[in-house]
Amino acid sequence: MFNPYEIRGEFPILGEKVYGKSLVYLDNGATAQKPRCVIDTVADLYRRENANIHRGVHYLSERCTALYEEARQRVARALGTPDCGEVIFTAGATASLNTVAYTWGEMSVAEGDNVVVSEMEHHSNIVPWQMLCQRKGGELRVLPFDDESNLLMDKLEELLDERTKVVAITQASNTLGTMPALRPIIDKAHAVGAVVVVDGCQGFVHAEVNVRELDCDFYAFSSHKLYGPNGVGVLYGKRALLEQMPPFLGGGDMVKKVTFERTTYAELPLKFEAGTANYIDAIGLAEAIKFLGGLDREGVMAHERALLDYATAQLSQIEGLRIYGSAEDKCSIVSFNVEGVHNFDLGAVLDRSGVAIRTGAHCADPVMAHYGVQGMARASFGLYNTAEEVDALVAAVKKAVRMLR
Ligand code: ALA
Repeated sequence: MFNPYEIRGEFPILGEKVYGKSLVYLDNGATAQKPRCVIDTVADLYRRENANIHRGVHYLSERCTALYEEARQRVARALGTPDCGEVIFTAGATASLNTVAYTWGEMSVAEGDNVVVSEMEHHSNIVPWQMLCQRKGGELRVLPFDDESNLLMDKLEELLDERTKVVAITQASNTLGTMPALRPIIDKAHAVGAVVVVDGCQGFVHAEVNVRELDCDFYAFSSHKLYGPNGVGVLYGKRALLEQMPPFLGGGDMVKKVTFERTTYAELPLKFEAGTANYIDAIGLAEAIKFLGGLDREGVMAHERALLDYATAQLSQIEGLRIYGSAEDKCSIVSFNVEGVHNFDLGAVLDRSGVAIRTGAHCADPVMAHYGVQGMARASFGLYNTAEEVDALVAAVKKAVRMLR
């Protein structure tokens, strides 16, 4: 049985005060806080075991290499693939998505082809595809959403054709919380021969994933939103596609043999891991996944859903407050504005009450454009948040509205 009050003790930062007030951390969509086991793993590695991987015969190098490859196995199991060659460590989800755009995208998109993205994507799942289309003379097509923030699935078939090479879609919108039904999108894309790239940044935090069952071609996520260290992420790709793709970055570790005439490349996954990998943080990510695996995940999901429902109900009672995004399948993210109050001012007043939320455009300008706003306030809940923290949020919003309107 999951108990958020018990788990909070595992996250040292949650005991901190800001401006003398208890921290109410509701900016988990931007980055999640780290449990003690992750912090200790990273610190202990630097303190006692650090050495570069894949490069030494000495004890520490072999030890770190083994831990790094064990981390890869743990990530592979969490994603539902038995093939560790399909799991590439990157600098983060943005790096993962750009890797696909600069490799698969580069080799498969030609003039007159198109790439489909949804209107609710984070910039990281728009801009690499837009840049690709600009380089190749392709067309970027957009799958819109309605005011309830559901994707207009009827439009998908109009957008897809035999020239569609890539469909790039989020598992969960970082602004609206919408979790689109991915499987029908993937099936429709495959029917026209397109590959599907899923941005799992927000989704993997709130839902379990099996990339094999989902049948997506690529899947990207970042460690730091999943209670792991910053600066590392993952790209999953189907082996058959990764084998066909050229490497992205060149350098050490991604090669088999280098001569001035010709270079041969390492096998998967190292072909896509040029340079010294961020092995310490990758091992920390595996520790975060182990930590999550030790929790009652159904219980965590039910708890986050309850927080979302409670926050939605409480915030909705505030006069002039509009919540953006009411999809039935929604993760624990609530974005809103209050009539007559700028979201930055709201965020600043909340901050003085110890309540940390995100403000601005959330790296999702098209979502802002859809609703005709410059920005939104966003509360995003993690597994350690509580109903009392929702109360603190609501009280702080009411106070801010009294002050600012
Ligand atoms: N993409 C992160 C967010 O949604 C930074 O806040």
